[in-house]
Amino acid sequence: MQAIRVATETDIYAVYKLNCASFSEAWSVMALGMWQERGDDLDVWYDENNKLAAYYLAQDVLDEVHIMQLAVIPSLRRSGLGQRLMQYEIKRKRSKGMAVMQLEVRASNKPAQRLYASLGFEIVGQRNGYYSPTDSRPAEDALLMNFSL
Ligand SMILES: CC(C)(COP(=O)(O)OP(=O)(O)OC[C@H]1O[C@@H](n2cnc3c(N)ncnc32)[C@H](O)[C@@H]1OP(=O)(O)O)[C@@H](O)C(=O)NCCC(=O)NCCS
Repeated sequence: MQAIRVATETDIYAVYKLNCASFSEAWSVMALGMWQERGDDLDVWYDENNKLAAYYLAQDVLDEVHIMQLAVIPSLRRSGLGQRLMQYEIKRKRSKGMAVMQLEVRASNKPAQRLYASLGFEIVGQRNGYYSPTDSRPAEDALLMNFSL
């Protein structure tokens, strides 16, 4: 694996592809590009063959870190990358003096919930029907998870 680094414009298409492979509510190339341009957090992690393995997308609001997306390519899931990427971000945010990390996760997304719980995140609430229905899936609740830095 290469070093985790801040995304540049040239990473956006690869992030978009992994985003589509990971989320039913995928972001557009334009939305991802605008996020990167604005300087909000978009960190990427490439493997030794220069293929995008994982990314992390978040926004700082005052002393809160709002995690929007975390994704690992399907072929490398369950090999510890998600956990290592999150540990990297936790350390980085702690050293910046941020107070808390927050996120919403689908009630059915047990892999993500277990990953966050393994890092010390706790379920602090629920938003009913937060995820809109699509052609392929009904509306779904979001669980709110927090981690005190
Ligand atoms: C959620 C996701 C980022 C996890 O990344 P990952 O690299 O596979 O996770 P890790 O290998 O670091 O797993 C760390 C821990 O999380 C839990 N976990 C991860 N995937 C799991 C799974 N499929 N089933 C059960 N537990 C799982 C386990 O506790 C695991 O520790 P263990 O392997 O020692 O038991 C990845 O599955 C993914 O990209 N999913 C699609 C996008 C997504 O749902 N993102 C989160 C949105 S909030």
